[in-house]
Amino acid sequence: MRTLQVAVIPGDGIGPEITSACLPAVVTAGARSSVQVETTVLDWGGDRYLRLGAAMPEDAAAQLRNFDAVLFGAVGRPDVPDHELVWGLIIRLRQELGLAVNLRPARSFPGVPTPLRGNPHIDLLVVRENTEGEYVGAGGLAHAHTPEETALEVSVHSRRAIETAARVAFDAAQRRRGHLTLVTKSNAMRFGYLLWDRVVDQIAAEYPDVAYERVLVDAMAARLVQRPEGLDVLLCSNLFGDVLSDLAAALVGGLGMAPSANVRPGHTPGIFEPVHGSAPDIAGQGSANPSAYLLSAAMMFEQNGLPGAADDLRQSLASALDAPRLRTRDLGGTASTDQLARAVCDRLGDHQEVPA
Ligand code: NAI
Ligand code: MG
Repeated sequence: MRTLQVAVIPGDGIGPEITSACLPAVVTAGARSSVQVETTVLDWGGDRYLRLGAAMPEDAAAQLRNFDAVLFGAVGRPDVPDHELVWGLIIRLRQELGLAVNLRPARSFPGVPTPLRGNPHIDLLVVRENTEGEYVGAGGLAHAHTPEETALEVSVHSRRAIETAARVAFDAAQRRRGHLTLVTKSNAMRFGYLLWDRVVDQIAAEYPDVAYERVLVDAMAARLVQRPEGLDVLLCSNLFGDVLSDLAAALVGGLGMAPSANVRPGHTPGIFEPVHGSAPDIAGQGSANPSAYLLSAAMMFEQNGLPGAADDLRQSLASALDAPRLRTRDLGGTASTDQLARAVCDRLGDHQEVPA
């Protein structure tokens, strides 16, 4: 039996609640595909920061390299400055593990409400460059704390990072519906985004079977709301991918439904995490939607060559969400985190194949 070694970082707020609710379903989905999911829980995050002054150990990235995948909940506590945890943990890990690409699918589920009229069916994938662009962390503060204080926040767009994200996006488009839209702002930002246009145009020529178009980010914001059905793969810089993927998530039921994968093509481990944060406003109530976590685990299976386990997990979730009594509060229901996660696990168990 194949084993999948998974490092589990529950983190803060609703992170530990959804993690403990979802792990049984993740293990069961693996078992149905003859994979033993072995989990190692790491206590990294806000509590550790308050105890030891750092959200994770110095050699965190090296420790994680021993695993096939990382399942991450969320970090963030009201009593710790956000940048200490977001920069000190998740952004640092993305950079140190070279997780150059962030995959953020947004898919409609039957019974999950969309704020859009006419209930359009949405199935799109945001492919986001994950280590540079506007979030590279280059800049400075001159004349700090004087009336003249001035901040410099420098964007970095390298051909190498653009190519890496573009190839992941075109490969995904080939497996999906064969359509790719590059999202930039090259009319107003003439260096970084013109490089994106040029590099992606070149790579598009290698994929004649993928229909390729370019759309400016402001127009894309409008199109996502007005005509999201036709969109397939959106290739975005770090900043635009961050913003548009939250918009896309809102269209398919909100942050509780939005999974993501941080990957380095051809390498493990990737980090698989819900898009949402630690939701301190609902933490401790047992009401958080576990769907984003389960869908992130499905992406983990897919990226580790286990598409059957991924499909099983998604189908069991879809079947559970189809029952109004199993929907969580953010979806207009009354189910608890545990009730929905357990229903998914039960459905996975029920579909056991009968041995010949
Ligand atoms: P958030 O995503 O934690 O919450 C935004 C809103 O969505 C809240 O009203 C929350 O209740 C709701 N929500 C989020 N996840 C939900 C779920 N699974 N089920 C039902 N409702 C859900 O974003 P916010 O409030 O901006 O940030 C809270 C903390 O999380 C901050 O400290 C922030 O820095 C951190 N954060 C961490 C991230 C990470 O670990 N990757 C990502 C985003 C934020
Ligand atoms: Mg975001």
